[in-house]
Amino acid sequence: MARLDVTEVFHGISFPGHLHTQESLQQAVEFQFKDTDILIVSYPKSGTTWMQEIVTLVSSRGDPHLSKSVPNWVRAPWLEQYYFAEVLKASSITPRVITTHLPHHLLGRSLHGSKVKVIYVSRNPKDVVVSFYHFHKIANFLPEAGSFAEFLNRFLEGTLHFGSWFDHVKGWASQTATLNNLLHVTYEEMSVDLHGAIKRVSSFLQCPLVEEELSSCVKHCNFSNMKDNKMVNYSLIAEEILDHSKGSFMRKGEIGDWKNTFTEEQSRYLESVLRSEMQDCNLEFVWEE
Ligand code: A3P
Repeated sequence: MARLDVTEVFHGISFPGHLHTQESLQQAVEFQFKDTDILIVSYPKSGTTWMQEIVTLVSSRGDPHLSKSVPNWVRAPWLEQYYFAEVLKASSITPRVITTHLPHHLLGRSLHGSKVKVIYVSRNPKDVVVSFYHFHKIANFLPEAGSFAEFLNRFLEGTLHFGSWFDHVKGWASQTATLNNLLHVTYEEMSVDLHGAIKRVSSFLQCPLVEEELSSCVKHCNFSNMKDNKMVNYSLIAEEILDHSKGSFMRKGEIGDWKNTFTEEQSRYLESVLRSEMQDCNLEFVWEE
């Protein structure tokens, strides 16, 4: 199948040109948020789609109607993608939920002084790179994945699309100390205690839920229900964009799948880069269930 991997470089970071233009990226960094907006931020493959589902369900008080009838890219559109303005204009969903993969150094200025509620989602980098590697194999709008060893080097150098994972996590996670409207949630936390993570999100969004509503959120955003929900499992995306015969977006949904791909040497190498890149950053990672 022909690949669609055109690259758009913006402020030194490459983006898939199939979905991003210079204009859409520029509009993203200049976007005027409303104080009532909710912004989900992540590096790809960190649990973005999961958080989109959680926020939709929390805002709907556990009612799955919206999450089962409107695709996630419409109810929580990507700020930097070319169709964003049009989708946002046509949407009547409140509060507005917006998603972005942009690093803090590109978006910080437009968030400065705003009360927008930012939810930052991160995941341990070994599982991120493995998930991203598999996604490159099915996504025709991304460059060829190559071997895992090559892919891992590109990840550690920060030359994959969306830039450096280290800069992304350092840039956003460091903001938790200064911004009281930023909540940092990890993939691992959602995995180990989904009920607790949803409760934390609902109280951050000032949308406290009764137990029945919380249980409904947990039920509808567990892995198997999301895998079966075509409004969120990306099966609606055309075959020439996502080659569904090669794998699915909702792939494994586990902590520690990296062990099936990393060699011991690759694991040690990533940890040494992590130590040096993240030395000023007070973050602990969970590597296995
Ligand atoms: P895997 O490829 O490891 O399975 P993103 O939405 O940021 O692109 O992240 C996609 C990753 O999140 C994929 O990881 C996907 O399976 C996982 N994911 C999505 N929904 C999930 C859920 N409800 N529970 C666990 N993992 C989920």
